Amino acid sequence: MQQALEALLKEVMGLDASSIGAPAVERAVQVRMQATNLSDLGAYIEFARASEAELQQLIEVIVVPETWFWRDPQAFALLSRWAFESWLPKNPQGPLRLLSLPCSTGEEPYSMAMTLLEAGFPAGRLSIDAVDISERALASAARAIYGRNSFRGSDPALRDLYFDAAAPAWHLRESVQKHVRFQQSNLFAHDFLPGAERYDAIFCRNVLIYFDRETQDHAVAVLQRLLASEGVVFVGPSETSLMLSHGFVAIKAPLAFAFRKPDTAAAAKKPAARVLALPRLRLTSSRIPLTPTPLASMHAESQAGEQSRGLDDAVALADAGRFAEAATLCAKLVKQFGPAARAFRLIAMIRAEAGDLVAAAANYRSALYLDPNDYEALIHLGLLLEKLGNATGAKVLLRRAQRVESRDNGTDS
Ligand SMILES: C[S@@+](CC[C@H](N)C(=O)[O-])C[C@H]1O[C@@H](n2cnc3c(N)ncnc32)[C@H](O)[C@@H]1O
Repeated sequence: MQQALEALLKEVMGLDASSIGAPAVERAVQVRMQATNLSDLGAYIEFARASEAELQQLIEVIVVPETWFWRDPQAFALLSRWAFESWLPKNPQGPLRLLSLPCSTGEEPYSMAMTLLEAGFPAGRLSIDAVDISERALASAARAIYGRNSFRGSDPALRDLYFDAAAPAWHLRESVQKHVRFQQSNLFAHDFLPGAERYDAIFCRNVLIYFDRETQDHAVAVLQRLLASEGVVFVGPSETSLMLSHGFVAIKAPLAFAFRKPDTAAAAKKPAARVLALPRLRLTSSRIPLTPTPLASMHAESQAGEQSRGLDDAVALADAGRFAEAATLCAKLVKQFGPAARAFRLIAMIRAEAGDLVAAAANYRSALYLDPNDYEALIHLGLLLEKLGNATGAKVLLRRAQRVESRDNGTDS
């Protein structure tokens, strides 16, 4: 019967019951069984299946609405930087379209609004949609009254700027509220936000962790559909490897957990791939290069091209969920072309995906031995160490990642 309950939760909201644990599921169902005067689990499941209202009540007691203002502040800092430096110059007109999915009680979309308003983004061009499956959470978002817990770690100066104190709580001003449109919906509904490429940036944070792999893939496909081709998607700290395994490309901004769409990334890489494939053509070309390329270096270049294409194939296999084949291909490429940071990084991601965190860490270390500045390996190993309880090691790696980013962006001091 427990299985029938878990199947129901997966069906209605994508929940992988093991992600919150059996006791939490049991407690939630007990609450609903008491409220409906049903003492038999089978009878309750039957009732819930037949009643949309009861299904919603079940969702309300099972969701984890945990959220707070400026959660992972680097994400908001990046949103602001990206809006000004990348989006505005390319879009002299029209709204910046943002989505908070899921938005829970509103702290996330309101933080997006406050961050951009504070940075001087034109208020009339700000358009934020915020979606959640929980009616209760959305009702709270609409009230926009928040207690101390919603401000953990955030800057009191910003709170005082945008909220009216209404002890023991704070009421968000209408001037911020008006920029966010809330909507109740299920990410897995067949008619979920119809259309394509509607958003320039999407925050989809701390929900993917509650889904199993198949459901996560479905969620990522939804994000792919909704995100503009040059858009940015933000996920939670534990959700980054999922995005990488789908070919999303990490934006170099430590602790922002932000990604660009795979298509854009592939397009950006294309010219390089063509250059690598060119040497053989050049041999038969009638145009004589001003400085002839030595044959040995052309051979090395074409080897590198072959290795790089092999690794692209391995990424595609991992993307399709064919992890064993992807790992085998990586191992083969290492044997054929010698060790490469990218190959070890991919093997590490596959091991992490399989739950073998120790092997994942070892492979990230191999990647970093080969390329101490491999940004993604630094970030991922840092997060992995954090998960494994090595906070000091994690800090060191994340700081190194920050240095790599500053150096790449030319902001090194
Ligand atoms: C932990 S909160 C995350 C809130 C915010 N994104 C953040 O990171 O602070 C998770 C939210 O996901 C929502 N949720 C769970 N399953 C959902 C689904 N299938 N569709 C839409 N929202 C969902 C829950 O109602 C809950 O409010």
